[in-house]
Amino acid sequence: MSKTQDLLKAREENVPRGPFHVTPFFAAEAKGAVIKDVEGREFIDFAGGIGVMNVGHCAEGVVEAIKDQAERFTHTCFHVVMYEPYVELAQKMNQITPGGFPKKTMFVNSGAEAVENAVKVARYATGRSALIAFEDAFHGRTLLAMTLTSKVKPYKYGFGPYAPEVYRIPYGYCYRCAFGLEYPSCEIHCADYLREVFHTHISAENVAAVMAEPVLGEGGFVVPPNGWHRKIKHICEDNGILYIDDEVQTGFGRTAKMFAIEHFGVEPDIVTTAKSLAGGLPLAGVTGKAEIMDAPHVGGLGGTYGGNPLACRAALAVIETFEKENLLDRAETIGQKVMDRFKKMEEEHEIIGDVRGIGAMVAMELVKDRATKEPAKDETGQLVKKCYERGLITISAGTYGNVMRILMPLVITDAQLEKGLAILEESLGEIV
Ligand SMILES: Cc1ncc(COP(=O)(O)O)c(C=O)c1O
Repeated sequence: MSKTQDLLKAREENVPRGPFHVTPFFAAEAKGAVIKDVEGREFIDFAGGIGVMNVGHCAEGVVEAIKDQAERFTHTCFHVVMYEPYVELAQKMNQITPGGFPKKTMFVNSGAEAVENAVKVARYATGRSALIAFEDAFHGRTLLAMTLTSKVKPYKYGFGPYAPEVYRIPYGYCYRCAFGLEYPSCEIHCADYLREVFHTHISAENVAAVMAEPVLGEGGFVVPPNGWHRKIKHICEDNGILYIDDEVQTGFGRTAKMFAIEHFGVEPDIVTTAKSLAGGLPLAGVTGKAEIMDAPHVGGLGGTYGGNPLACRAALAVIETFEKENLLDRAETIGQKVMDRFKKMEEEHEIIGDVRGIGAMVAMELVKDRATKEPAKDETGQLVKKCYERGLITISAGTYGNVMRILMPLVITDAQLEKGLAILEESLGEIV
């Protein structure tokens, strides 16, 4: 038996089936945009551990910072003995997140935990309980985050009852408009629909926050029409509702701006971050207007590991790497290349129903028929498998599992990018 077969057997015997895996191999080491497995095979990484590795695997500055911190101390718990990297990173986050007002930041361990804490803060600050989320949204797997999430299988199925006081409206998903309208003649009716909800579902005075991804991540890289975020934000402002911008997947340079909401001219009240924030270490942030973040009482927020010193040092190194290596410009270049190639593939392959994206957050939605837009879920699964067999790691997305999304490290070389795209195109040719 090969080492991989041994490990797969051990995995099956010891790890429940719930935690899924996209590829059937085990990593031994990784650098930049390449992962080497335990058999010595190399794979180009178009997934980045689900959008975590924007600065690349084992980025030099990040590894050095982690090593240096590991030799000093690894944990004191910020609530017991404070440390400088937490405060320094909070200061940085307050500077780089959108919004020209005083801000404060706290740290937790995962995207879901950031979402939960953003809601705690919003509820406390407004004295209101209800939340508005969107169809096709993904906000994590803890009880409240899962409730805010829209996709039933596999995320919610069998795990109810869900948390109360979450209401939902369609996202600005033009390719599959819930109202059967077309942009721009629709005048972004889907955003105005929020006002309807205040008559049909929940009074605006009871709503603490709207929770929105600036671009849908797990929901299929859906970029809402220009003006959608602004409309939603205006409705929030009219009604004393806070706007929580969930940047867990879109953040840290993926869209060629540090935060995707910057593309849409909106200053959120609260921003949640995780994934590429700390270059692979578990860290998440909740950044918001100072007076909102300061609302909860002392001791009302926190956690044993939140803002672990290794993770904070890694995040500081990530921010430095972005500046030093000009990764926002690189995201723009990569995005343009991928978009051009995907558009060309769309001309040649009927199975591609839509190509969309912003910066280096690009996707193709696969359909069985362009007229009916019936999702091509099985075909998308086959595409992921064929890519893997040729040495390219990819992951799908979308409520119907029919979107091929691209989340490669932004340090990918031109040659690796070209090779990865060629594999994708070749594999697509076989599906069709
Ligand atoms: C937008 C968004 N919010 C929250 C989460 C949850 O993050 P985590 O898996 O770190 O809990 C994700 C994860 O994919 C996400 O994409």
